Amino acid sequence: MSLDKRNSINNILEENRIFHPSKNFADNSNIRSFEQYHSLKKQALKNPAHFWESFAKSEIDWFEPFETVLDSENAPFFKWFKEGKLNITYNCIDRHIKNGLGKKTALIWEGEPGDSRKFTYNELLKEVCKTANALKEIGVKKGDLVCIYMPMIPEAMFAMLACARIGAPHSVVFGGFSSEALKDRLIDGSAKFVITADGGFRKDKVIELKNAVDAAIENGASKIVEKVIVVQRTKKNISMLKNRDYWWHEIVKNQKDWCEPEIMNSEDRLFILYTSGSTGKPKGVVHTTGGYNLWSHLTFKWIFDIKIDDIYWCTADVGWITGHSYIVYGPLSNGATTIMYEGVPRPSNLGAFWEIIQKYKVSIFYTAPTAIRSFMKSGREIPDKYDLDSLRLLGTVGEPINPEAWMWYRDVIGKNKCPIVDTWWQTETGGVMISPLPGAIATKPGSATFPLPGIEVEVVDKNGKKVKENEGGFLIIKKPWPGMMRTIHGNSERYIKSYWEHISFQGEKNVYFAGDGARIDKDGYIWIMGRVDDVISVSGHRLGTMEIESALVSHESVAEAAVVGKKDDLKGEAIVAFVSLEKDVKTSLELAERLKKHVVSEIGIIARPEKIIISDSLPKTRSGKIMRRILRSIAAGERITGDISTLEDSSVLEKLKESS
Ligand code: PRX
Repeated sequence: MSLDKRNSINNILEENRIFHPSKNFADNSNIRSFEQYHSLKKQALKNPAHFWESFAKSEIDWFEPFETVLDSENAPFFKWFKEGKLNITYNCIDRHIKNGLGKKTALIWEGEPGDSRKFTYNELLKEVCKTANALKEIGVKKGDLVCIYMPMIPEAMFAMLACARIGAPHSVVFGGFSSEALKDRLIDGSAKFVITADGGFRKDKVIELKNAVDAAIENGASKIVEKVIVVQRTKKNISMLKNRDYWWHEIVKNQKDWCEPEIMNSEDRLFILYTSGSTGKPKGVVHTTGGYNLWSHLTFKWIFDIKIDDIYWCTADVGWITGHSYIVYGPLSNGATTIMYEGVPRPSNLGAFWEIIQKYKVSIFYTAPTAIRSFMKSGREIPDKYDLDSLRLLGTVGEPINPEAWMWYRDVIGKNKCPIVDTWWQTETGGVMISPLPGAIATKPGSATFPLPGIEVEVVDKNGKKVKENEGGFLIIKKPWPGMMRTIHGNSERYIKSYWEHISFQGEKNVYFAGDGARIDKDGYIWIMGRVDDVISVSGHRLGTMEIESALVSHESVAEAAVVGKKDDLKGEAIVAFVSLEKDVKTSLELAERLKKHVVSEIGIIARPEKIIISDSLPKTRSGKIMRRILRSIAAGERITGDISTLEDSSVLEKLKESS
């Protein structure tokens, strides 16, 4: 853990522009003033147990009430609302129907080739129940892990909710991951069941999901996976194995459209979601039912200021936490109308997002800075062609947003009337932690502003001492919160080591280390500076450098590999890999291309290195550690500064510069 990756951390230009929500927006919002925000914050500080208890009781329906709000006995394995019993699908669907919202649209789905479907809450309940009954028919039992590897189609949402309905935790694997990456996740979670599709449409291509499932099973998961359900989406020819593979439309069609929601304990697992860390393989982040339900619900309500007639659209994929919390659980728990889009903008259709906003009169739009930057690049003429007047609130997530992109978003998309919520959070936090409340907090371009009520953060140095105003440091979270991860699947040691042992704050050991750098300005605004560990963010996708290095080293020609991130105007960071080859292997451009392909097949297209630099050797300290700081400078084309006296062989530097 070091801050040197962010060596520019203290050279930040002060951002003085400040934007207040309009009076009209503030007057009509759920939390309408800074004083109201502050009062909530104070209540939480004064009596956290009472604060969380009252929201858990007012926002969530429990089959049986909880007695203990927070059990810290076995910290950092915290337990929330532990005696409570509930089912998240009841909160996401049934209760809205009971409250007269059955005919309200729950889901609007827009397919990549232009097809579309809508589902009311009544219809959603039927789809989920039928899917849940089908899962039972193939033998899924409460507690069994079900892997969902699907394109962005309504059935992905039905599958997640069907699992939750019957108490089977889900493990959604992003459809852009390769069969190798899928195999690792199937094995790590011991997922006996997989729900997939024959394929998915992505950027004018078909991704062959079922073939990838077959390969994952053949190449190592055959003793684990028992049954596979396949949605027919692309109608491409695929092979179906008798007694193992079932077509969704055949097995779901004839099921009963009612399935009793399983009564779950608050701390029963709801899902595992894999994310990258700085060491080893991806970690299976575990979330449980009660706390996650409350946190995804409450943050959605606070941040998106949701109203009964809002049309809300989050452009993420359900394969990531943003899709889990802010396409599926948060919006549905609030009885909102949520949009799901199968495609991503591509050169042949750069107006796709704006067309959807116009078509469905979207009022709240939530996307990633990378997307905004790419729209900026292709010019405002494209969004200007569409009617975006329905928008009233904009959000961003996943990576720091540069002030220029923030201003463009505000002006070109929001017509200077929509507040922007820049939301900072992580797979591990379950829901947003730092964000403006749009009716209450004035925003500065590029700052995520303040922590939500009940969330206590600090920026500290490596000794846990609060840093000075505007000084870069490590972002920590000082108190547990309901949506926090509970552990890493199968590795509680790693859970403690990765998050709870880095920093002690005022003698308190149980502080959460987020892995991000940040600074706090004179007005108390938080500015996230990016990761301080060996995790890089490419277009907001989180990747461990070690993961990519292992993928490279698994290639027969590679002896050693070191991967670093390089600043990229569009993607935030781009991957640069330094590689030394096995004896007798000759370097060539063609080999570099093959190595890129190899990484894609080991992990997925999101991990494709932008550049591979092949060299005889890598810069190492006398004790054999690769000096990444040097590699980062070389990748960025910068002068190498700082101490290089620990380098074992300084001639490596010249050679590296030549090869880069
Ligand atoms: O570095 C932070 C960055 O994304 C990381 C979390 O990645 P992941 O678990 O994949 O979740 C992404 C979606 C929540 C964080 O450690 N990050 C997320 N949101 C922001 C951000 N960086 C700056 N500003 C944000 N708003």
